[in-house]
Amino acid sequence: MSSLPLQDKVALVTGGGRGIGRAIAQRLARDGATVVVNYARDAASARSATEAIAAAGGRALAVAGELHDVASVDRFVAALDAALAEANLPARLDILVNNAGVFVPGDFASYSEADFDRQFGVNVKAPFFLTQRLLPRLADGGRIVNVSSIVSRTAVMPEAVHAYAASKGAIDTLTLYLAGIGAARGITVNSVRPGVTETDMAAGLVATDESRGGVKQMQLLQRIGQPDDIAGVVAFLAGPDGGWTTGQYIDASGGTKL
Ligand SMILES: NC(=O)c1ccc[n+]([C@@H]2O[C@H](COP(=O)([O-])OP(=O)(O)OC[C@H]3O[C@@H](n4cnc5c(N)ncnc54)[C@H](OP(=O)(O)O)[C@@H]3O)[C@@H](O)[C@H]2O)c1
Repeated sequence: MSSLPLQDKVALVTGGGRGIGRAIAQRLARDGATVVVNYARDAASARSATEAIAAAGGRALAVAGELHDVASVDRFVAALDAALAEANLPARLDILVNNAGVFVPGDFASYSEADFDRQFGVNVKAPFFLTQRLLPRLADGGRIVNVSSIVSRTAVMPEAVHAYAASKGAIDTLTLYLAGIGAARGITVNSVRPGVTETDMAAGLVATDESRGGVKQMQLLQRIGQPDDIAGVVAFLAGPDGGWTTGQYIDASGGTKL
């Protein structure tokens, strides 16, 4: 009998309790990985994600940690260590998916420093320092996948999205440089760029037939993207077939704004 592609691997998915992160966590678990589901505040969703994984025959644990600065990253890493030890797992990871993110909208003219710092704290500072802290224990041949957005390559909704898009541009650039850092140990690093995807974050964009129509108008493929559409791309990059792909930005947007 053939083994699953991620058999014996351990993956961490930040923001894995809801939305795209949950779909990624469930998919990696289905492919055989033990998945650590990080969450910020919504413990019920994280619990339901780990229960869904267990019900499907997989293995997952939820670890709380609201990530936005170095201190919060260090608190989370300590909690991660404790959870891995309690689960009799080594303090080692094979796959890191930096998925957690927030969208802090606002007019450019009045955008505040506090909003900017929140936008960049969660979307850039936290993945930067989490990756710095976890890289030494990422296994040789491991994988890092950063969840970016198509807004880093095309100026959609410029009136509200400027700072969020800049944070995703920063993550894409970090991907390129981390790929160089990880290469000596065979660690691949890639960005996945979802388009509008039906989650809580995009609720306002997919709430009505009219707004859904507006989203589809931007895309070649005429349906609304779902979290599983993104999870499949992450699974490819995290799995054996993705081993020759590094430093890339993979679009998962149904052909948005081509
Ligand atoms: N949905 C889209 O249209 C879309 C498009 C392009 C890119 N993206 C990107 O895809 C990723 C996931 O987005 P989503 O649509 O799934 O969003 P979502 O439905 O709002 O879920 C966000 C997830 O991130 C977690 N999170 C938020 N802030 C956090 C923090 N400070 N520390 C740790 N976890 C935190 C949340 O935890 P709790 O559950 O505890 O709150 C939740 O699990 C984000 O990076 C987003 O920018 C989304």
